[in-house]
Amino acid sequence: MTDNTPDQYCVFGNPIEHSRSPEIHRMFANKSQQMMNYEKILVPVNGFSEAIHAFIEKNGKGANVTVPFKEQAMALADQLSSRAASAGAVNTLTFKDGIIYGDNTDGEGLVTDLLANNVTLKQQNILLLGAGGAARGVLLPLLAQQPNRVVIANRTVSKAEKICQQFADPRLTASSYSGISNQPFDIIINATSASLAGELPPITSDIINNNVVCYDMMYGKEDTAFILWSKRHGAIKVFDGLGMLVGQAAESFNVWRSITPPVKPVIDQLRKSL
Ligand code: ATR
Repeated sequence: MTDNTPDQYCVFGNPIEHSRSPEIHRMFANKSQQMMNYEKILVPVNGFSEAIHAFIEKNGKGANVTVPFKEQAMALADQLSSRAASAGAVNTLTFKDGIIYGDNTDGEGLVTDLLANNVTLKQQNILLLGAGGAARGVLLPLLAQQPNRVVIANRTVSKAEKICQQFADPRLTASSYSGISNQPFDIIINATSASLAGELPPITSDIINNNVVCYDMMYGKEDTAFILWSKRHGAIKVFDGLGMLVGQAAESFNVWRSITPPVKPVIDQLRKSL
């Protein structure tokens, strides 16, 4: 007799109320005819490990992990993918045969969204703004696209330098914001959390012209300060992080189900409901 029970997945976070992951994964499941459930679980700040083990007990197959548990998820995993190890954080857990596998799909989400929008990364000069978890999390997949160089600019330069030391990749350099003035970049990616506060990182208009592509990892109903700045200074293409959000979910889905779901209709649907 075949087991018709849907496979169980979830996203763990705190807060979790505003997570779009359940609707994204339900759309993926519908479009690719996968029998699965996906729920969101609010985890007490000190209760991550208990929540994971309770979910495994209930025969959970996999989970996404969001703020503030991504580092704890990494510590809890028995095995890490190279992209999770380099990110220093896990956003995708898979539970199989008593083993907890940790992965990170954020960088893949960014890269696939850029490529889907016909942005070339190979041999390009990329400026990455910010040196927190969001920046570090995307570097390995970004470097795998063979850019010419990636400059990490951060207010606290030592944080950018630390990431460069960790990666030890000659294409990667750290800079202050004043140090990037008048340098030729093809792509500027905002990985700072400045947009959350309605702020713009301290960038000046000499780094942008009408050949530059701009990408903000944040998204919202209204344009972020960085998106407005990019449009005002005539960037050739401007994107927010909605495509990255759906892209990272698609890669998690692929990790769990070995199927790449269609992302475009899901991005369009979410865009309408922002
Ligand atoms: P996340 O996990 O989202 O990356 P984080 O690790 O707290 O969050 O990092 C936040 C990043 O945004 C940092 O690079 C921070 O710069 P500093 O390290 O110099 O603090 C950057 N950031 C936040 N607000 C900013 C602002 N208004 N202007 C420029 N950078 C900002």
